[in-house]
Formats: sequence, structure tokens, C-alpha cells
Amino acid sequence: MTAQDTDRQPNPLDADYVLGLVDAALTAIQAADTGAELRQVRADHAGDKSPLALANRAIGQLEPGQRKYAGQLVGQARGRVNQALAARQTEVEAAELQAALLAEQVDVTLPVELHPVGALHPVTALLNEMSDVFIAMGWEVVEGPELESEWLNFDALNMPETHPARGMTDTLFVDPPSDRKLLRTQTSPVQMRTLLSRDVPIYMVSPGKVFRADEYDATHLPMFHQIEGLAVDKGIHLGHLKGTLDHLAMAMFDDVRTRLRPHYFPFTEPSAEMDLECFVCHGESVGNPDRPCRTCKSEGWIEWGGCGVVNPRVLAAAGIDTDVYSGFAFGMGVDRTVMFRNNAPDLRDFVEGDVRFPRSLRGGAR
Ligand code: DAH
Repeated sequence: MTAQDTDRQPNPLDADYVLGLVDAALTAIQAADTGAELRQVRADHAGDKSPLALANRAIGQLEPGQRKYAGQLVGQARGRVNQALAARQTEVEAAELQAALLAEQVDVTLPVELHPVGALHPVTALLNEMSDVFIAMGWEVVEGPELESEWLNFDALNMPETHPARGMTDTLFVDPPSDRKLLRTQTSPVQMRTLLSRDVPIYMVSPGKVFRADEYDATHLPMFHQIEGLAVDKGIHLGHLKGTLDHLAMAMFDDVRTRLRPHYFPFTEPSAEMDLECFVCHGESVGNPDRPCRTCKSEGWIEWGGCGVVNPRVLAAAGIDTDVYSGFAFGMGVDRTVMFRNNAPDLRDFVEGDVRFPRSLRGGAR
């Protein structure tokens, strides 16, 4: 073709021109990525006003002798374009379907939490776990009432009327005062209830709520939990108490040092407090003013509960022959066990009912 030729109107039936139209159409068809683009390409290259349609119409104006060749040329050209359009149409539709499926995909394996399943309160869960340690040793779980008689809460446990814990400051009495009813200040009255209602030997634990007119702060609640224990049998001595509490400590804390520190309780003789080695400083703050420990007040130990050999006067009050039988008893703090185990620093979180609290506990809500 000369430069002059290109300036002229193309002959719509020129073979090069028609093949050029086909090339242009095929390139545009391949480049179309969506149904909309492909519709536009179809209109441009195969529609009524496309150059190929014009070429087709031009055939009618040819001499009859020339029509056959031109008809083949244009017919084949249109055939190739239409075939390419159809093939690309299939591809584009498949790609669009695939994209739509991906975009609208729903993962049916994702967990659905329409109604989150609740969980036991960490204190309740631990109460159960502590009870289980004793059930595994064949002990019995006994429950006692939270509204208790003054006699069972104090007198029967050898706590005389002059004992400071009986004063209004510590004990929540219930109206009318003449009924001598109170919210139990300890789970120890269940010891006496058990002694009065069962035959020896006795191996029992009693978990539950206790109440005191205490301040509401990070380390005190007016309502907290204890687990009481009582074993009465022939030949029971302090060694059995120590072994039992060490077993409980190991079950609760895996690996912890314990000590029995002499103390006084009216219903045990001798009596002790069971301490755990401080889980924060492990004793390193003792005599080390550079590293004070708030948790144990730099004493290296924290109090876990009270215990002792049952005072024979308590057994005798229940009609048990103290020449033959002896026993040990203990009462451990449950809320503080949760604190130590899970690094929960503030007791107020235990009762404020925010679900983020149990979720935040080290080791999860147990
Ligand atoms: N009841 C005591 C308290 O609340 C704890 C206690 C001490 C329980 C000695 C006992 C025991 O069974 O033997 O402080």
C-alpha cells in the first residue's frame, strides 16, 4: 500500500482490509474482561454499524461475478469474529461467576455464637475442684445453711460470749435479735452439724459462703467463701493434717512450699495457720528492702487458712469418746485461692459481674 492509498476511503471488500478488521476484532475480544466490555466490543466489531457489516452490505453492489469471492471473504471473517466472541463470552461468564462465588462466599465451618454458653463463676468452679480433691480420697461433701444459729456458729465451737468475733462489728446478726440467728461467719458450724448427725469415723468437707461486716476493698468482701474440712477417726494426729493440706496445696498450685504457723483457734488445740510461699516474690523480698513485695508485705508467706487438731471439748460436746477418737480440722479461703492461682489482684472484681473478669484470668475462666 502506498501513502496515497491510506488516505483514500478503504475498499470495504479489500482482502487486507477485511483481515485487518478481523485482527482488530480478535484483539479487542481478547482484551474484554467483563460482560459489559464484551457487549461493547460485539457492537463495535460485529454489530449492524460495524465495518464488517458494512462490508457485508457492500457485497450486494458488486458485479455478480465478484460476489462469490467477496462473500467467502466477508463470511469467513464474520464467522471467525463471531466464534471468538462466543468463546470469549463463555470465558468471561465463567470468570464472573467465579468472582461472584468468591465475593459472596460463606464459610459454613466458622463457629456461630448466637447465644454464648455461660460458665461457672471462677469461685464456684474452684470450689468444685477443691471438693473433688477430697471426693477422690473418699471424703463426703456436706452442706450447711448460710443463716445459722449463734450457738452453732460460736458456742458449740468453744467460742465464748466474750470472743471479739461475736461483736456487732464482725458478725451480721439477723432480726429479731431474740432469735439469735446470724449469717454464718465461717463454715466451721458445719463441723458441729456433722458431728451431731453422723457416726464416727467422719471425713467431710463443706464448701460455701460466709459473711462478715468487713470493708469492701481489694482484699476484703463482706461475703466470701471457705472450704471446711473435718476428719475424726482413731489415732488422728497433726501429721495427718499436714499431709492432707499439703496434698490439697499440690493439687491447687502444682508446686508450692507450705508451712504451718502456730496460731490460736478456740475449737482446735494445737492450732495453726497454713501459709503458702508468696507466689509473687517467692520469699526474695524478706530482709531485702530493695525488693519489697506488696502481696506478702515482704514476709515471704501468705495466709491460706486456719487449721488444727480438733479440741477434745468440741468432740465431747457431740458425745464422742475422746479417749478413742481424735480429729483434725481446717478452713481454707477459696476466693484467695482463685487470686493466688490466677493472679487476680482485686477481690471486688469477683462480685461485680463483668464477664471480662473471668475471661482475663490467667489460665482462663476455670
Ligand atoms: N473458721 C476459721 C476462720 O474462719 C478457720 C478455721 C480455723 C477452720 C481452724 C478450722 C480450723 O476448721 O480448725 O478463721
